[in-house]
Amino acid sequence: MDPDAISRTYRQWAPIYDRTFGALTRPGRLAATARANERGGRVLEVGVGTGLALRHYTSGIHVTGIDFSDDMLRLARAKVGPTLDATVDGLHRMDARTLDFPDGGFDTVVAMYLISVVPEPERVMAEMARVCRPDGEIVVVNHFAGTGGVIGGVERLLAPFADRLGWHADFDIGTVVGSPHVGEVERRSLPPLGLFTFLRLTPRGDAVGSG
Ligand SMILES: C[S@@+](CC[C@H](N)C(=O)[O-])C[C@H]1O[C@@H](n2cnc3c(N)ncnc32)[C@H](O)[C@@H]1O
Repeated sequence: MDPDAISRTYRQWAPIYDRTFGALTRPGRLAATARANERGGRVLEVGVGTGLALRHYTSGIHVTGIDFSDDMLRLARAKVGPTLDATVDGLHRMDARTLDFPDGGFDTVVAMYLISVVPEPERVMAEMARVCRPDGEIVVVNHFAGTGGVIGGVERLLAPFADRLGWHADFDIGTVVGSPHVGEVERRSLPPLGLFTFLRLTPRGDAVGSG
């Protein structure tokens, strides 16, 4: 999807996102934030959306979120307040392909349900690796082609969302784990039905600065 199409698509989704796709994808959000909490420090959430994950970060975590959709960001900003345990350093409108952050500034970079939506996912992987500390971690949660218990059922479950989210239901995991900018550390399936995959990755040393 081109950037204008992203804005148009998510303008329609924003008001119902939390009750539909957002609810179905909660287990992945819990898994990704649990890992970020274990690591501590500064977290960058790329494609923060309506900010559904913000309440899961624990005290001491500093979160920065970026998203291309103003409509999704507005809902994320409305979730920031004293009920959150973590500190939200900022929620910015930004394209994941050109992150406006210096190299190596984040302990953990998290991308949930983003990578099969963005244009140029290879470039997004490079950018996430660049802004991650050399000893940091990149956590990706997504649906990938050929994963999930009963594939027919899984694809049927996702079908109402896929097209309208600009989501590529047949997205190849190789685009993520085969990126020259990262190394794979962990891969596991997540509910419902093993539909989503949790990945932990480390930035490759030579990725920093290679944009
Ligand atoms: C399926 S939603 C996931 C939102 C959130 N991560 C969650 O767990 O609910 C995908 C998000 O990616 C954002 N997005 C798509 N392309 C983007 C880009 N190039 N740069 C930044 N955000 C982008 C969309 O605006 C949308 O909020």
